[in-house]
Amino acid sequence: MLTRRTFARIAGAAALALSVALPAYAEPIVIKFSHVVAPGTPKGKGADKFKELAEAYTNGAVTVEVYPNSQLYKDKEELEALQLGAVQILAPSLAKFGPLGVQQFEVFDLPFLMNGYDDLRKITDGEIGQGFLGLLDDKGIKGLAYWDNGFKIFSANSPLKSPDDFLGLKMRIQSSKILEAQMQALGAVPQVMAFSEVYQALQTGVVDGTENPPSNMYTQKMHEVQKHATLSNHGYLGYAVIVNKAFWEGLDPAVREQLDKAMAEATAYANSIAKEENDNALAAMQAAGTTEWHELTAEERAVFVETLKPVHAQMADRIGADLIAQVYGALGLTN
Ligand code: LMR
Repeated sequence: MLTRRTFARIAGAAALALSVALPAYAEPIVIKFSHVVAPGTPKGKGADKFKELAEAYTNGAVTVEVYPNSQLYKDKEELEALQLGAVQILAPSLAKFGPLGVQQFEVFDLPFLMNGYDDLRKITDGEIGQGFLGLLDDKGIKGLAYWDNGFKIFSANSPLKSPDDFLGLKMRIQSSKILEAQMQALGAVPQVMAFSEVYQALQTGVVDGTENPPSNMYTQKMHEVQKHATLSNHGYLGYAVIVNKAFWEGLDPAVREQLDKAMAEATAYANSIAKEENDNALAAMQAAGTTEWHELTAEERAVFVETLKPVHAQMADRIGADLIAQVYGALGLTN
């Protein structure tokens, strides 16, 4: 005879199965989610949350394998792997879509464009950001969501209090023409390099410095090999979560519906922790005492703004003057 507890458990499981109403699969559908950062970052935690929710909502019909820290692929390779179907989900930084031929995303890289997460939201949640995701369709990619990271700080082994301090420094950047122009405007020599190679390049002096939000800097231990950092918050680094379009559209609609739900909740989670994760990472690096931290005075900041703002007009040909004007409009900027 069934006890009340056992009955309640079976009934509960049956109700869950009915509510999800997924067909039985002999083998789970495997989704490989590859990324280049540490599990303890906003993106790493978002990916793990998606795995947890996707597997629960599909009652095990889907298994999500998360590969952090470039375990499977580095920056450029992971985009190729997604298009070939070797992995199914990625969340590359918005600065890495240019080489795919969708340089509109690089608008997020413009220095001193956004003043915090509220500004960011106006773009990502609005027509502009959603329009960008649609541009990926032609590349065999479907854009699902934007995940936040944070605002970047400059670091090097020498103080970076004014643009003059960048003269001749080799600065590692992501593969973005805007970031290249930004470093050139500072008189630095930009060096595109995969994220997984940055720590060693800083340690061995292959490059002198870099820029990243605190969460990336801390989890890669970059602060241990950078004597100086400036809290410039001069630009944004965040992600688009993307899937192989053919794979996604080929899924059973009932499965896809549960995955969409998991993605919406993982997105809300990732975006709710990003600021705090960055604040905590900064505090931890400051406590470590290996780096001297410089807070820009209003005057020092104004010099950086004056030096870097011309990059917006300079990049108009690449990103589109209309698009830049549209973004300014959404942010309520006049110039
Ligand atoms: C970088 O290459 O610096 C970042 O895009 C890494 C990341 O994914 O946050």
